[in-house]
Amino acid sequence: MANMAAEKVEMAVLKGEEAACAGLQLAILDPHVAPERIEAWKRQTPIFDRAYLFDRSGKLLYPAQVSEAEATTLAALRGEIAPGFWDRGGRRHVRLEEQVALVSVIQGSPLGRLLAILVRSEQGLRRDIIEKTLVGLEGQSVVAVLDGSDRVIYAARPLERSQHVLTVAFGEALPSWRLALYAPAGVSPRDAVRRQTVLFTAVLILLLGVIALGLGASYRLVRRESEMARLKSDFVANVSHDLKTPVALIRMFGETLEMNRVPNEATRREYYGVIARESERLTRRIDNVLDFSRIEGGRQRYEIARGHLEPVVHEAIEAFRYPLAQQGFKVHVEVEPDLPEVALDTEAIKQALANLVDNAMKYSDARRHIGVTARRVGGEVKIEISDEGIGIAAREHARIFEKFYRIGRSETQGRRGSGVGLALVKHIVEAHGGRVTVDSRPGEGSRFTIHLPVPAVP
Ligand SMILES: Nc1ncnc2c1ncn2[C@@H]1O[C@H](COP(=O)(O)OP(=O)(O)OP(=O)(O)O)[C@@H](O)[C@H]1O
Ligand SMILES: [Mg+2]
Repeated sequence: MANMAAEKVEMAVLKGEEAACAGLQLAILDPHVAPERIEAWKRQTPIFDRAYLFDRSGKLLYPAQVSEAEATTLAALRGEIAPGFWDRGGRRHVRLEEQVALVSVIQGSPLGRLLAILVRSEQGLRRDIIEKTLVGLEGQSVVAVLDGSDRVIYAARPLERSQHVLTVAFGEALPSWRLALYAPAGVSPRDAVRRQTVLFTAVLILLLGVIALGLGASYRLVRRESEMARLKSDFVANVSHDLKTPVALIRMFGETLEMNRVPNEATRREYYGVIARESERLTRRIDNVLDFSRIEGGRQRYEIARGHLEPVVHEAIEAFRYPLAQQGFKVHVEVEPDLPEVALDTEAIKQALANLVDNAMKYSDARRHIGVTARRVGGEVKIEISDEGIGIAAREHARIFEKFYRIGRSETQGRRGSGVGLALVKHIVEAHGGRVTVDSRPGEGSRFTIHLPVPAVP
């Protein structure tokens, strides 16, 4: 920036001199040099404050008189002008006293070629050239012009407390003058560097933060994905095992019957019963998985119509009568009389209740009590299935409704399942405009509640 400013000033000085010489050429067109015309030219040319004109013979044509000291200096100067310079014409800068003077051959006068020695005016130069050129060039830094003895010729703003940054020289037109850049107080280069360092550090920290966040998010995503993959493979193994058990029983009892190895009619009937119940269980497991896959594929449809809940609840429990009795469960069913009708898909609600009863049985230990109640509370009907089994820790309450999720192996040791039962319950209940909640404590038992909205009376 400093170099550019110096170049601009230099160019402006040369242009100003060019214009001044052209003006002077016009002023000397008369047959004799008219001082008033040169005076007029001088008034229009503030960058020079003195002018001397000589003819080739060395006669002073302007001004009329000079002091003795001046005459000596001028004579010395003219002595340096080679004859070739007269012939070629042109311009040269020379030092004259403390100033710079422009020596130029001016053509066009009837008196022949004239030699002009024009001494610069520091003030005129500053006002006419430097100020005009440098205005608007500065940003935060201050531009100043210094002379050979570091005197400030021009500065856009006061320089006190500013810090010097750098200096560049002008060209031949302004020998010994220099252009300097200053940084105002508070914007010293060191401060600027410090500020930039702080800024870069902040941006870097921000960037690192964003990268860390991205890494964290991808890590979580990858972990979720791999957990999902593990759950899915567990699911396949669990489903296969779940299906194998009833199939093995059916086959075993079927073969025994086929080989006629049954001692009496009562036992035979019992075996038929086992086959029938295991087939039912098999159907339930298969229905569960098929419905779940339909839900996953977005193909599950419910046929929801108004109906009474009471028979639905009883039928759902009835389906478990034998396994409940066989495993020594005491079941207490209590359906409030005059329950209002609700909008329901009978089969789907039965399936949801079956899953809850299945869980209540599966996750019970020594205390084998299951309670089933249905009652109206405000604008909804609540169906509760409670057990006194192993219970569920509070932190798992939300996760057990996720597909494939099963609580750690040690808690559910020996209890097989595919982990889709509660996900199915949740989907079914939500399709009815209701919700399912759980209340459970480890070691005390669990209570699952299905809330179904009571439709407004038409
Ligand atoms: N009544 C309950 N008591 C204790 N834990 C339960 C109970 N019901 C569900 N859970 C826990 O919630 C998990 C999810 O239950 P969900 O019914 O979805 O799957 P599952 O019973 O393991 O398999 P599925 O029902 O598909 O055969 C179970 O694995 C079990 O850990
Ligand atoms: Mg289950």
